[in-house]
Amino acid sequence: MNNELKKSSAWKKLEKHYKEIENKHLSELFKEDPQRINKFTMNVGEDIYFDFSKHRITEETFELLINLAVERNLTAKREAMFEGNKINTTENRAVLHTALRTPADSKVMVDNVNVVEQVHVVLDKMSWFANRVRSGQWKGYTGKRIKNIVNIGIGGSDLGPVMAYEALKFYSQRDLNFRFVSNIDGNDFAEAVREFEADETLFIVSSKTFTTLETMTNARTARKWLLDSLQNENAVADHFVAVSTNVEQVTKFGINPQNMFEFWDWVGGRYSMDSAIGLSTMLAIGPENFNQLLKGFHEMDEHFRSAPLKQNIPVIMGLLNIWYGNFFGVQTQAVLPYNKYLHRFPAYLQQLTMESNGKHVRLDGAKVDYQTGAIYWGEPGTNGQHSFYQLIHQGTIIIPCDFIGFKKALNNLPPHQDYLMANVIAQGEALAFGKTQAEVSKQGVPEELVPHKTFEGNRPSSTFILDNLTPESLGKLIAMYEHSVFVQGAIWGINSFDQMGVELGKVLAKKIIDEMQNKGIPLNHDDSTNALIEHYRK
Ligand code: F6P
Repeated sequence: MNNELKKSSAWKKLEKHYKEIENKHLSELFKEDPQRINKFTMNVGEDIYFDFSKHRITEETFELLINLAVERNLTAKREAMFEGNKINTTENRAVLHTALRTPADSKVMVDNVNVVEQVHVVLDKMSWFANRVRSGQWKGYTGKRIKNIVNIGIGGSDLGPVMAYEALKFYSQRDLNFRFVSNIDGNDFAEAVREFEADETLFIVSSKTFTTLETMTNARTARKWLLDSLQNENAVADHFVAVSTNVEQVTKFGINPQNMFEFWDWVGGRYSMDSAIGLSTMLAIGPENFNQLLKGFHEMDEHFRSAPLKQNIPVIMGLLNIWYGNFFGVQTQAVLPYNKYLHRFPAYLQQLTMESNGKHVRLDGAKVDYQTGAIYWGEPGTNGQHSFYQLIHQGTIIIPCDFIGFKKALNNLPPHQDYLMANVIAQGEALAFGKTQAEVSKQGVPEELVPHKTFEGNRPSSTFILDNLTPESLGKLIAMYEHSVFVQGAIWGINSFDQMGVELGKVLAKKIIDEMQNKGIPLNHDDSTNALIEHYRK
């Protein structure tokens, strides 16, 4: 089946159909079908309005894309994930981030263990700990309360926590300071703790494997920084906790396993922000709000699992990505949240989408003969409008955009919210319908400027309008993208859950570290790499 994507009848029909409508303009599509808006918009739950009418699709396109999902057995693959089958075949692991947000009375079995029970034991421990730190009951080594919390982690052990902290700052306890150290560049650690006192600082060392070079180096530096100030090994127990799947390495590092918050190999790093990796999030917003976040995730899981394909947001999002990537040859997808609190959301999505679907072979190991994962990127509006939107409006490539807006403002400062939302809506309109030469000329624009001021339009976008940015709505948004990644991977027949592509660079860096620190080691790389090492050695 995986071998046959381009030979499948749904694919062939889409190829033929693409030729028929590739030049059709969105203005025509809207004119031709007065019902278009009813067909291509939907409300999900109380608070998500999804408008995908400004995409270069017809009813037939939509039908054919749904057929493709059916032919590729999307629903069976989806069920296999929810049920805990080992769909991450290269690592022989289940893929069960959905179990992290499943209510306590449910059951999901992996290797004869009900993982939901395990999840809730850890959630209870996290709540107990978060309440103690937030209330000041958890004391540092000298008896002072904790004021500063530093999460040390990278990739999935950093991007989710930072993004969620920033996104939910409005709900956070303001007398706690949060920092996130990820980079091997020592400047990251130095700046994070510059204003902090060691006896008021708690480090969360977050690493699934507890072997990642960046995280372990930063954790050792943190430990030294703490002990330089507090001068007693016993202080480590009050100032360090770990989040990991690897109790052995945690103990070896010197963190008491009682101060470890566990997760499991069936949680991928980039799918882990709602596991114990979210400890910093829970410390910031409190256990109640964290539960609301999980509730949002779970509601989107239920929607993805049970809504008919045609009314299923992640399915539609994933299929639209396939439509543009595999038929129009589009290579990027912009995500443009019109909410400043979501300024790390696109960066978070980059790992989620690109580490998942940046794959060049199918599940059976054969090379794909079609494009897979797109480049995801973005910035919050309206800032992006004054930067890269020019290229989206008048450049020579198509960049589908996801616009994300909220009806309510968390900080009500009229007229900001109306201005913000007017801009989201205006951008989608301008991209889709543009401004014709005739319209520009009619405005009395000098002839030589008409081409410059003309907007071709026909540039696709989705618009998501949510009620308010809350822990619950954030959970829904994230799960929506997680599942759209799944849909794309399932159709391409690739493994969205391993990340072998990051290994080679890590191995080579290890070798080069030795060569830098020991100048006697002869160099046997290519000429360019040898010269770079020599240059640094000097
Ligand atoms: O290098 C990639 C990666 O393995 C990511 O997938 C992961 O999120 C990150 O490194 C951090 O890994 P860990 O949590 O094991 O330190």
